[in-house]
Amino acid sequence: MRDQIVAGNWKMNNDQNQTQTLLNVLKNHKKPENVRVMVAPAFTQLSQSVTLLEEDMISVASQNVNAEASGAYTGEVSVDMLKGVGVSTVILGHSERRSLYHENNTSLADKVNTTIEAGMEIIFCFGEQLEERKSNRHFEVVKEQLSEALFHLSAEVWSQIVLAYEPVWAIGTGETASPAQAQEMHAFIRNLIQDHYTADLAQKVAILYGGSVKPGNAQEIFSMEDVDGGLIGGASLNAEDFMSIVNAF
Ligand code: PGA
Repeated sequence: MRDQIVAGNWKMNNDQNQTQTLLNVLKNHKKPENVRVMVAPAFTQLSQSVTLLEEDMISVASQNVNAEASGAYTGEVSVDMLKGVGVSTVILGHSERRSLYHENNTSLADKVNTTIEAGMEIIFCFGEQLEERKSNRHFEVVKEQLSEALFHLSAEVWSQIVLAYEPVWAIGTGETASPAQAQEMHAFIRNLIQDHYTADLAQKVAILYGGSVKPGNAQEIFSMEDVDGGLIGGASLNAEDFMSIVNAF
C-alpha cells in the first residue's frame, strides 16, 4: 500500500498571525489516519509551524532549499538549517521555481543530491507547459524532467522521493487535468520508473497530482488508481477547503 499524501504549498502567503490562525484550525480538525498531511509555509514560518504542530499528525515541509551546504549564497537556506528547525521534507522543482527563478533539470539534480544526502524527503514537482501538451509532447517532457533530475539516483534512496505531477497549465488557473488525463500521466510515470528501476519500486513510489485541486474535484482525482494524493496551492490557504481535500480519499 502506497502512502496517501495531501500537501499544502502555501507559496509566499501567510505571515506569523495568519499561520497561527490557519494551523490552529487545522489542528482541531479530525483527520483520517491513513493520509499523510503536510503544509509548506515560507522559510520564516517554518520554525513557528513545527512548534505549533508538535502534537499533531500534520508535518511541515520547506518550499525550497539550496544545493550548497553553507557559504556566500545571499538569501539562501541550507538543508542543515531546515533540519535544525525540525523540517525533514523539501519541495523541489515547483514550476514557479523553474519559470521565475530559472531552475532546470540540471540545477535540480544538484538540489536533489544534497537533499537526499541530508537524509531528507523530497516532493519533486514536474509537468508540461500548455504548448507542450498542445503539441503532444507532454510525455516526452515529463520523461526528460524525471530522467535528468532523478534517474541517476540509486533505487535505495527512492524511499525518500515523492513525485508531484503538476501540469503547468493547471496551476493556479482553475483548470485541472481531467481525472483521466491525470491517471494517464501517472501510469506513464510509473511505467518509466518500472523500466528504469523495478516493478516493485514503481509500485511503491507515491505520485501526487497538483494543479487547481479543490474540494469539488479532489475525490474524483484521488480515486484514480495511480494518483496517491495532491499538492495543493490556493485551496490550502483555506482551512475548510484544505481539510475537505484531505478527507476526499
Ligand atoms: P494550485 O497550485 O492548487 O493553486 O493550482 C498548485 C501548486 O502550485 O502546487
